[in-house]
Amino acid sequence: MIPEEVVEQVSQAADIVAIIGEHVRLKKQGSVYRGPCPFHQGTNNNFSVMPKGGYTCFVCGEKGSVFTFVQKRLGLSFVEAVKYVGEKSGVEVREEVRHREGPDPREPLWELNATVAGWFREMLWESELGAPSREYLATRHVSRETADRFGMGFAPRELGLMRAYLNGLGFSDERLLDIGLLVKREEQEEPRPRFRDRLIFPILDAQAHTVGFGGRLLGPGEPKYLNSPESDVFSKGKLLYNLSNARNAIRRDSRVILVEGYFDVVRLVDAGLESVVAPMGTALAEGQADLIAKYSNNAFLLYDSDGPGQKASFRAADILLTRGMTVRVVTLPEGDDPDTFVAKFGREAMEKLLTEAMDVFDRKVQLLERRGWFADLQRKRRALDALLPTIRATTDEITKDLYVNRVAEAAGIARDVLLRELASAPAQRGRVRRASTAPVSRPERAAEPDEIPRDSAPRPAGPYRSDDPGSSSELAIVRVMLVHPGLAEGIIESVGRLDELHGAHTDADAVVDADVGVMRDPVYRALYDAIVVHGAEASPDVLAESLDPVAIEVMEMIRGEPGAVMDGRRTVDDALRRLQERALRERLDELERTTPLADESEKDALLSEKDRLRRELAALGARGWKSVRKQ
Ligand code: UTP
Ligand code: MN
Repeated sequence: MIPEEVVEQVSQAADIVAIIGEHVRLKKQGSVYRGPCPFHQGTNNNFSVMPKGGYTCFVCGEKGSVFTFVQKRLGLSFVEAVKYVGEKSGVEVREEVRHREGPDPREPLWELNATVAGWFREMLWESELGAPSREYLATRHVSRETADRFGMGFAPRELGLMRAYLNGLGFSDERLLDIGLLVKREEQEEPRPRFRDRLIFPILDAQAHTVGFGGRLLGPGEPKYLNSPESDVFSKGKLLYNLSNARNAIRRDSRVILVEGYFDVVRLVDAGLESVVAPMGTALAEGQADLIAKYSNNAFLLYDSDGPGQKASFRAADILLTRGMTVRVVTLPEGDDPDTFVAKFGREAMEKLLTEAMDVFDRKVQLLERRGWFADLQRKRRALDALLPTIRATTDEITKDLYVNRVAEAAGIARDVLLRELASAPAQRGRVRRASTAPVSRPERAAEPDEIPRDSAPRPAGPYRSDDPGSSSELAIVRVMLVHPGLAEGIIESVGRLDELHGAHTDADAVVDADVGVMRDPVYRALYDAIVVHGAEASPDVLAESLDPVAIEVMEMIRGEPGAVMDGRRTVDDALRRLQERALRERLDELERTTPLADESEKDALLSEKDRLRRELAALGARGWKSVRKQ
């Protein structure tokens, strides 16, 4: 906060003609000064500056005070702009800090992080130990200058070095453990460095305090990237990599480019695209969206071209749309990420891709259209279910209206039918999988130690419990597979058949989440998949390799139950019957919701299909799963 009197004082003292004159060639005309407008890149002298204060462009309509000008042209915040103008006008501007008792308690942790960042840097450039990391940077074509711009460093594999250095400066082990520079697996164990043999990216908050680190393994191994653990100063969901560097450019360019990884940021900034930020290995969080929206309302999503990248960008888009932002997706050629693309084709090519970027909704509709998702009634229903959440997320009314028109046209559905759908409750199909249980943008990525489940809401203590009512049957199936491996093969076959009933796996697509099958609780699904891949006879250790700690915990719980499943066959039959019932009900519900989209000629087929399912459902109670299986 700057006191109002001071703002007024600066405004009085400022020579607006001189200040704007540093950016625009101004000529005196009568009592005002005129020049070409810098906002719409005009060539004629339609931009007018009044010595008493204020500027106006008669063509593009831009106008404001000396502060607005500086804010817009230099990408500064209001406070920064007042300071800037104050400095030029000989008025001292001090921020008034209200109601603050003493320094920020996070100060010592920031200081510790900044100190160790310096040490990492020294290891990278000055130490013998840093040779492999220097080579690594060279192979990735990162210059010293670029590396320094990001304060990159190197964490050596040696156990005691960093600790000795920091202890020598008076930082206690306790503090190093708190902030996650050291880790201890067991109480009595000697603490070890968390980052070993990794290239280090310091992570700064928007105000440029060093709050944590990301580290990339130099060699192969898992996890490829490791971040600081959550702490008082490091909260991944509220930080964006490179924001402190990029924020002025983001304001100035009125655009923010969102990429997935550290190296994407480094490469783009290196190529001269400065307004780039990245989340750190997680899907875009609400807090990060808030942060972005503070600086620009114009986002470009520049994610990997692969399926998971596309899915992650669509998920990020829905969050940004709720902030009223305009969201465009940039389409990279197959197999490229921003890093490789810029390395191969350069900045100009990247700028071209940015100008070709499509509005996220148009892109979704385009993908659906190309793959025939509007071609028949059934798929139209699912396509619509995939698009409605995005329209619902859009808070900007004009944009929302455009989106409605766009789908109405593409799908051949009347506008009022769509508006009615929008107003009604969202569809429930596959609720669990779609819910934010998958915070990681790359689901196949191994989880990081010490922070599991990654960034999801804190889990209540005690064993894992799914929040989906249907999932007790899913658990029963996993349980039987683990306890009676001999039954696994038959179970896998039956589950496959039920998946078909759901219409799962028919046409997976980044837009339509077609992968809603029988096993849909993320934890039970992971266990099930592990058994399918490794075989039911596989040892717990083998299964555990591809599982996250929550799933491992569930597996151990099941194996630890004494006499868990008495009659495996009956338990399975029971569970499968209930899951089949769920599948039939959901299918019926889907057909019900398809009815308003059908035209007269399609209605008959729809009715008889519904009839058939109802009869099947009624028979299920009487016959049980076994006889259904024989059909
Ligand atoms: P990618 O796996 O796409 O890596 O992860 P990348 O950026 O292309 O990395 P390079 O080029 O191989 O070095 C994208 C981002 O996801 C996070 C990191 O933030 C990474 O930059 N990530 C990745 C993790 O947090 N953990 C991992 O194990 C892998
Ligand atoms: Mn990469």
